[in-house]
Amino acid sequence: MTKRENVAYTVPNLKDYSAKALEKVSRELTSALEQESNAVNTEAEWKTLRDRWMARKNGILTQINEMWLKAAPKDAKREVGQKVNALKLIVENRVAKAYANVDDLSEVYGHSTSRGSVEEVRRAARKKLETQGSLDITLPGIRRPLGAEHPIIKTMNEIVSVFRNLGYSMEEGPEIETDYYNFEALNFPPNHPARDTQDTLFIANQESKPLRDRLLLRTHTSPVQIRTMEKMQPPVRVVCPGKVHRNDAPDATHSPIFHQVEGLAVDTNITFCDLKGTLDHAMKALFGSSVKTRFYPSFFPFTEPSADVQISCIFCGGKGYRDGGRCPNCKASGWIELLGCGMVDPNVYGFVNYDSKKVSGFAFGMGVERIAILKYGVDDIQLFFQGDVRFLEQFA
Ligand code: DAH
Repeated sequence: MTKRENVAYTVPNLKDYSAKALEKVSRELTSALEQESNAVNTEAEWKTLRDRWMARKNGILTQINEMWLKAAPKDAKREVGQKVNALKLIVENRVAKAYANVDDLSEVYGHSTSRGSVEEVRRAARKKLETQGSLDITLPGIRRPLGAEHPIIKTMNEIVSVFRNLGYSMEEGPEIETDYYNFEALNFPPNHPARDTQDTLFIANQESKPLRDRLLLRTHTSPVQIRTMEKMQPPVRVVCPGKVHRNDAPDATHSPIFHQVEGLAVDTNITFCDLKGTLDHAMKALFGSSVKTRFYPSFFPFTEPSADVQISCIFCGGKGYRDGGRCPNCKASGWIELLGCGMVDPNVYGFVNYDSKKVSGFAFGMGVERIAILKYGVDDIQLFFQGDVRFLEQFA
């Protein structure tokens, strides 16, 4: 190496503004740029390079602007200006490109990148280039992974499609409901103890309104039954998927936000047999044709009679024991409780002006998370809401 090569490049003053002279100083500048860019290996070195060439205050680009362009005599300004602009582009591109040589990206992440994938490092380099206002089209492209349906949406769609195939249509309702739709019209009178079973989240500062107009977060999708019957005359066959809210502390089996699919069929001569046949079919469609269903007496204010539907345990085949011991999933009972249902209470028809002497119907409501947990063997409901791609991608 000769001595001269060790001396850092400095911008010379121009005395001669001829094309030939401009060409010469440009060549000197770009060869210095090339040499310095090639020497960049670390993030810190790259920053030094960038600042030396591009710092607004006294960077080499600023210097050539001052020393070459501003100092140029009037008749040379045009040509010098073009040269300086061209050099500006060359410098910006070369500095941005030098970033691809940086193998220590610790300052991008604030920690060591030894565990980062090649893709991550490239992405960081690309981002840096983009923020530099320059794009190197020779860099490899960024892989954008395809998204996939969330397991809850997927399960909800599956449930809905089982009923669509039976001729049901779909209805939706608001998540912020009035006391009237969430409770009163569903035959939960004010102060009725059945309201206590639905730990309700009320919207604040509603006290000045009459009770029926006060807002709350719907605790179930059943209000969509009322909204549907208000706008539609029988025959009605609808499913209503949606998000519901309850004041429950989150743990492995509880979440303050979850999802339900509601169903409603109202027509002439609908009987409990229709309800049983429909839900038995739906459970077989969702869990496999070997599951059995049983209807267990229950209570809901808006159905009479009411029932809880249980399916034969899909883990032990309904036997109650497996692997030489009690089945933990059904607590050795052989049955798993899955949803609520019943024949629409005649009082409900009174709220929507249906003639309870002429029509009859059934309703049901099921928890989507609960069904997804059973179908996919998930052990913690919180996993659905944490957004961890390692969990979610298993359903893609
Ligand atoms: N809405 C009830 C709940 O969230 C579930 C339910 C039960 C819905 C019976 C129904 C029904 O439509 O008939 O607990």
